[in-house]
Amino acid sequence: MSPPRCGDERDAMTTPEHVAIIMDGNGRWAKARGLPRVAGHRAGVEALRKTVRAASDLGVGWLTVYAFSSENWSRPKSEVSDLMGLLKLFIRRDLAELHQSGVRVRVIGDRVGLAPDIASLLDEAESLTAENRALNLVIAFNYGGRDEIVRASRRIAEAVARGSLESSAVTAEVFAGFLDTAGIPDPDLVIRTSGEQRMSNFLPWQSAYSELVFLSCYWPDFTQEHFADALRQYAARERRFGGVLPRGVAQGVAS
Ligand code: IPE
Ligand code: IPE
Ligand code: MG
Repeated sequence: MSPPRCGDERDAMTTPEHVAIIMDGNGRWAKARGLPRVAGHRAGVEALRKTVRAASDLGVGWLTVYAFSSENWSRPKSEVSDLMGLLKLFIRRDLAELHQSGVRVRVIGDRVGLAPDIASLLDEAESLTAENRALNLVIAFNYGGRDEIVRASRRIAEAVARGSLESSAVTAEVFAGFLDTAGIPDPDLVIRTSGEQRMSNFLPWQSAYSELVFLSCYWPDFTQEHFADALRQYAARERRFGGVLPRGVAQGVAS
């Protein structure tokens, strides 16, 4: 399937700094081929590898990928274990290459309760690549937006109880600093594959003003062309953040 085209002459001026992707549709991709779901997840890892390279080629500075949600634990045990195995394989196999390409890895989501080998691989990926600057890859693993907000609120409550934070000092900016994404810019664009049009607990705080692009392809079929098409759709959007733009002035030609 070739992706729909949505040409816009402004695209070069409006590349999003941060793209976040809900990589959905691995199971249906496999089902359509008469394969077990794990085959879809394996193909999904290949698509992720290509997408990391594509992000650099397309000039995106931050790429966040939704790899495993806090609700995905409700899947059959064998599928959860396949997904854990694939994450380990991805980091073991790709970490050296990611590091060589200057990719900085950061992981968001709850680390508590993860198997020790997974937790230490995630730590290793972050520490090895901490000084890299070519591309920031944020992996949302055991991530749920509500869980993230609850954990942040708990830490804020503890800081107030300790006396190290005044409750009146808690602004949106301060709150954001307690989230897993502290220091990470909000996503400009969120892409979801597989035709579903929902957020599934992905970055609810951070995506308040993100542009959303829903693609019908399943995640394993996602290519650089689909990525470029989503960026073209983004470039044609007019972001207003609750304000108004002067008549006839659209994003990308305003300044
Ligand atoms: C996305 O594909 C991968 C994860 C959620 C880990 P799915 O496994 O959700 O695939 P579908 O949505 O069932 O097709
Ligand atoms: C969202 O996809 C989670 C990831 C892509 C990791 P799901 O497949 O879990 O979402 P729902 O269940 O369709 O909402
Ligand atoms: Mg799904």
